[in-house]
Amino acid sequence: MCGIVGYIGTKNAVPVLVDGLAKLEYRGYDSAGIAVHTGGGVEVHKYKGRLQNLADNIAPLELKAHIGIGHTRWATHGEPSDVNAHPHMSNSGDIAVIHNGIIENYVQIKEFLCDKTDVCFKSDTDTEVIAHLIEYFYEGDLLDAVYKAVYRMEGAYAIGVVCKNDPETLVAVRKDSPLIVGLGEQENFIASDIPAILNHTREVLLIENDEVVVLTKDEVTIYDSLRQKVERDVFMVTWDAAAAEKEGYEHFTMKEIHEQPQSLHDTLHRRITADGNFHFEQIDIDRNILKNINKIYIVACGTAYHAGLIGKRAIESIAGIPVTVDVASEFRYADPFIDEHTLFIAVSQSGETLDTLQSLRYAKGLGARILSIVNVVGSSVARDSDDVFYTWAGPEIGVASTKAFTTQVMAFYMLAMHLGMHNDRLTDEGFDEWLEKLKRMEAYTEEVLKTKEQMQHIAAEHFNKENIFFMGRGIDVDISFEASLKLKELSYINSFAIAAGELKHGTIALMEQGTVVIALATQDHLYEKMVSNIREVKARGAYVVAIAQEGNTAIEGVADDVVYIPKCDNLLAPLLSVIPMQYFAYFVALLRGNDVDKPRNLAKSVTVE
Ligand code: AGP
Repeated sequence: MCGIVGYIGTKNAVPVLVDGLAKLEYRGYDSAGIAVHTGGGVEVHKYKGRLQNLADNIAPLELKAHIGIGHTRWATHGEPSDVNAHPHMSNSGDIAVIHNGIIENYVQIKEFLCDKTDVCFKSDTDTEVIAHLIEYFYEGDLLDAVYKAVYRMEGAYAIGVVCKNDPETLVAVRKDSPLIVGLGEQENFIASDIPAILNHTREVLLIENDEVVVLTKDEVTIYDSLRQKVERDVFMVTWDAAAAEKEGYEHFTMKEIHEQPQSLHDTLHRRITADGNFHFEQIDIDRNILKNINKIYIVACGTAYHAGLIGKRAIESIAGIPVTVDVASEFRYADPFIDEHTLFIAVSQSGETLDTLQSLRYAKGLGARILSIVNVVGSSVARDSDDVFYTWAGPEIGVASTKAFTTQVMAFYMLAMHLGMHNDRLTDEGFDEWLEKLKRMEAYTEEVLKTKEQMQHIAAEHFNKENIFFMGRGIDVDISFEASLKLKELSYINSFAIAAGELKHGTIALMEQGTVVIALATQDHLYEKMVSNIREVKARGAYVVAIAQEGNTAIEGVADDVVYIPKCDNLLAPLLSVIPMQYFAYFVALLRGNDVDKPRNLAKSVTVE
């Protein structure tokens, strides 16, 4: 979704802003713009389309400024266009604003402004009202005007403001949309996300909800909603800029697929103690707390939801606690059975997905204990949780989630073991056995990366198909859902996934000569049944690519292609079987000429409902 960046310091703000926006491109956007104070006043330049379009248009102007704000917009209110792009200016042109989020009461604010002033609205956006509202309250003190404006705004927002009459001050506000501050030498930054400032500093302040920040080149002051100063510890970013670069790969997505053995290693090994137990720094759920918990809800969106489906199977089978999984956009409206005996687990790579965040807050309000599995440190979901499991996958830039997914799944196995130990479902020996199995997964994922060429070849055979189906049984259904989503979002091919046993109840009607079916058959106890399902679609002319565990060679006589994953515990197979599926989606998308890292219409961090 929208990305914001701001700079004040001694350098020329223009390249800093454009470079920062480039680092936020992964979030998804359809237009880009900057506002800079050039001495005489605030100049806004904004264009529909790629950031390069903005860069090309401003290059001949040779703009010089020491303060400015920049924005990549993902359209919500109003089509993608030059005029709807941010920054938006106040009527006089003195105040410019960038905004990530949604102003829910913008219509009322618009009516208020039309009533009180002769303001002229130029865009269809909700954001434009912010600039006019700040100007309405401005009487020489920008901070004061921002406070008065924010007091009247409802919704979610991270906002950056610059003003003609105050060229030494940048003001920013946060409510339910991500905002960080970067601290430099005689320069300071704001941004939606850390990669935007990582070329300049690793020292970061995480801004909390309802806080307002005033930045000069030498100082950063955080205020709370009552305008009291707030002290904040500096957060040191441990990963370097290179982690957010492609490092020789053509796309971030491919780089991130390849990083999975390492990220799984980090997620697991950094939590194993010398005596072979787990140490979860930010999880306080022990025997006593667990006694009070009789059910678990896992709530998430998209790929994180699919990780939750696998999490349910892991927790139920290892810890014996009943689990319900729901998509966050549905959860709150379904009258869920949440009370103080519920453990609510939110799963989110970004930690900023609004549906997930709102579900978490809803469950918290009903007394549930909140545990989150999150990748982005200090994100909203993590901050609103009682317990946090950071997946430590490192920055995931490709819009399609890959390494975040496998680390979320790993987190669930580990949590299931932790819960199992504390409710006596798992013996010490049982724990040790599972731990050994988990340790082997790093090497096994390395092994599965070798399916790359085979998947490239299979993708080349089928990239021009209009429909591709996925099917599986048991835990393979969950991976079928994930594989289908990955293919849809990257390749734009129509695809869906089905429990293979359901075929005969309707979907088999779609099977005809040449239909491509990817059949996940990794589960030993369901293998024979899957083979029968493969025969069923083959009999109707389907072309079947099967995914099976090594050794199950009988499937070669049934499927057209077989992709093997190393033999492992059935419950852990998703960590392996998903990787060929990620390759497949990647190569199909590439062959269709799609933008693999930034698929159309999608955003990395979905901060609207
Ligand atoms: C995954 O490939 C998607 N782009 C998307 O489904 C994503 O997983 C979903 O939006 C949830 O995001 P989150 O993990 O940041 O909450």
